[in-house]
Amino acid sequence: MMTISVNVEEHHGSTVIVESGGMSSAHRYLDSLLAGRNIALITDTTVSSLYRDQVTRCLDIPPKRLLVLTVDDGEKSKSLSAIDGLAARLAQEPFHRSDIIIALGGGVILDMAGFLASIYMRGIRYISIPTTLLSQADACIGGKVAVNHAGGRNLLGHFHHPEMVLVDPRFLKTLHQRDLKSGLAEVVKAGIIGDETLFESCETRLDDLFPVTVHHWDEMIIRALRVKKGIIEKDEKEKGPRMVLNLGHTVGHGLEIATDYKTFRHGESVAVGMLVAAVIAKRRGLLTPESFRRMAAVMIPILPGPSWRTVPNTAILNAMKLDKKKRFDRIPFILPKGIGEVAIFWDVDEIEIREALDEAKKYGPEDI
Ligand SMILES: NC(=O)c1ccc[n+]([C@@H]2O[C@H](COP(=O)([O-])OP(=O)(O)OC[C@H]3O[C@@H](n4cnc5c(N)ncnc54)[C@H](O)[C@@H]3O)[C@@H](O)[C@H]2O)c1
Ligand SMILES: [Zn+2]
Repeated sequence: MMTISVNVEEHHGSTVIVESGGMSSAHRYLDSLLAGRNIALITDTTVSSLYRDQVTRCLDIPPKRLLVLTVDDGEKSKSLSAIDGLAARLAQEPFHRSDIIIALGGGVILDMAGFLASIYMRGIRYISIPTTLLSQADACIGGKVAVNHAGGRNLLGHFHHPEMVLVDPRFLKTLHQRDLKSGLAEVVKAGIIGDETLFESCETRLDDLFPVTVHHWDEMIIRALRVKKGIIEKDEKEKGPRMVLNLGHTVGHGLEIATDYKTFRHGESVAVGMLVAAVIAKRRGLLTPESFRRMAAVMIPILPGPSWRTVPNTAILNAMKLDKKKRFDRIPFILPKGIGEVAIFWDVDEIEIREALDEAKKYGPEDI
């Protein structure tokens, strides 16, 4: 078992417990938080059918204090209308300021249940139990909670940190391989940003990661969370240094928006974005050919299928212009300078991105 404390200035931070099989002793960690409170367990249909019974049994909450709220799987549940429905259920209970939400699921559930917790009665406490690799290794810390809006992805959001995060890699046993690869993209990202040893684990274990053998994940998740913790503790609100966590996300979001979030998983798009960033860095002479080769060899297996190559560069670039964080004349672009080192560049232009996309589209399994 490993405990990580995330300490941020303006809010009290989160305690993260990473333990394979930790769910079975969850009440040990959570009892003091849950005692005497009403609890709303928010989850999605898939996670509910797999884990609802096990989790409620492990938490040992008297049924009259437990409200289980299930939303549909997938990104469309990160919406104001879903929040509206859940808030209505809480208000009906009634659910008070001192009560607590438990988010059980992937990044979608953590983002939306965390957002609900941030606005319900001006903010109540919540606990996260992430169940995908992406949410265990990345989304569960940092306090970014949000829902989508027609005007933009994650447009309506807050910073609201979970009181406690319980990461049990055993949940990953049932995860689809595609979601596992998607999560791996964020682990690779953490390695490139600030942990060469983590990147090496991704390199050496890539062939061996599927099917999931759980013992692999504890160490990698802890290392990825430590990279993120180090960055958000310096810059909680993304005023500067936290931007490096967007490695691969500038082009990645463009690809997601251009395909209406329907075709590719978040991590698959981030893998494309990281490959494009690595190509730009190589072309600028920031990366040695050997570092580029190692990065590409890890990214290529987690790219989405070849269909991404048919998405026109113009569609990706136009979508990047729409993405809420960017003014196209000054896009903060994160580029790798080596394995374990990145920097923010403000002068990456459209032509450079187009050329890098063209090059990235040529890479396939034969290039590993
Ligand atoms: N807040 C942050 O810092 C942050 C960071 C990265 C991503 N995100 C957000 O996270 C979301 C993506 O998260 P995700 O990839 O976890 O997607 P997700 O939550 O949609 O989960 C993917 C699929 O896996 C299923 N699932 C979850 N746990 C499972 C398990 N243990 N076994 C089998 N199936 C399981 C879900 O039902 C869903 O169908 C995006 O909305 C993204 O914006 C947030
Ligand atoms: Zn991401």
